[in-house]
Amino acid sequence: MGQVSLKGKHLLGLQNVSPEEIKLILDVAKKMKNIVLSDDKKVPLLKGKSIINLFMEPSTRTRSSFELAGKYLGGADVINLSPSGSSMGKGESFRDTLLTMSYMGTDAIVMRHSAEGAPLYATKAVDPIIINAGDGAHEHPTQALLDMYSILEKKESLEGLKVVIIGDIMHSRVARSNIYGLTKMGADVHLAGPRTMVYPELEKLGVTVHHDIREAVANADVVNVLRIQLERIHSALYPTNREYARIFGINNEVLKLAKDDVMVMHPGPMNRGLEIAPDVAYSDQSVIQEQVRNGVAVRMAVLYLTIIGGDGSELAY
Ligand code: CP
Repeated sequence: MGQVSLKGKHLLGLQNVSPEEIKLILDVAKKMKNIVLSDDKKVPLLKGKSIINLFMEPSTRTRSSFELAGKYLGGADVINLSPSGSSMGKGESFRDTLLTMSYMGTDAIVMRHSAEGAPLYATKAVDPIIINAGDGAHEHPTQALLDMYSILEKKESLEGLKVVIIGDIMHSRVARSNIYGLTKMGADVHLAGPRTMVYPELEKLGVTVHHDIREAVANADVVNVLRIQLERIHSALYPTNREYARIFGINNEVLKLAKDDVMVMHPGPMNRGLEIAPDVAYSDQSVIQEQVRNGVAVRMAVLYLTIIGGDGSELAY
């Protein structure tokens, strides 16, 4: 699988990750998925290593899939830490929390934080490998990696695929990481949503911006619907939820404009009936459940490649 190595590297985002590194992670994730689907999921690849999940914001999928990923990789000790159940709740600073975890001999810290740049700050404060599990509206690299992996299970290549990302791009770290990753891998990336959520300036990232969802979805290979992040929206970016659903929601009528074999994706959690109609979310075109399953395999690949290294050819799975 080539000479690329991620050993000892932090994963802060996809902006500074090369196409070869992305390919390596996706290739190794394919082997990891064989483990996830097997009866005996425990392999000794991370034996003796320790990982801390430091989640300063809520998470269901990312946190539990990183935890399972560490456990499937053969007894890596995974500890979950959040503000409410730790001394952060007593006022201990973020820096002191990081230092404390580092003194314990942790190999990697998987981190979610509301502040953009918190994982970068952590790389300068402590020694363990830092893996960004979402920082503010900046990046969520493992989500974009699992999205690309899920596309590649159905399509031969990302090169030239029309991938439409719809919704609240401005508040979305998922969108940003997908834009960086997909454009590096040669996809034709389109963004769509209200003018308050999708700025024309985004075209500088090598994508096409639309404010008419029908125009965006026409002939699409992949439609990736983003969650309206109600918790991050502090001013009215659209008149009402009903109006958003009517104009920008993805339903079967809009999907008819896409290719017959269009894939529908959503990173979760969904606001069903707002950005996506329930019958679309659970249709044959939807790969939302597969995205969740693939999240474990992709995170296994990221933990293995950053902590142990290798190029995947040594893995017999
Ligand atoms: N997609 C995603 O990051 O989901 P969680 O917030 O549940 O981790």
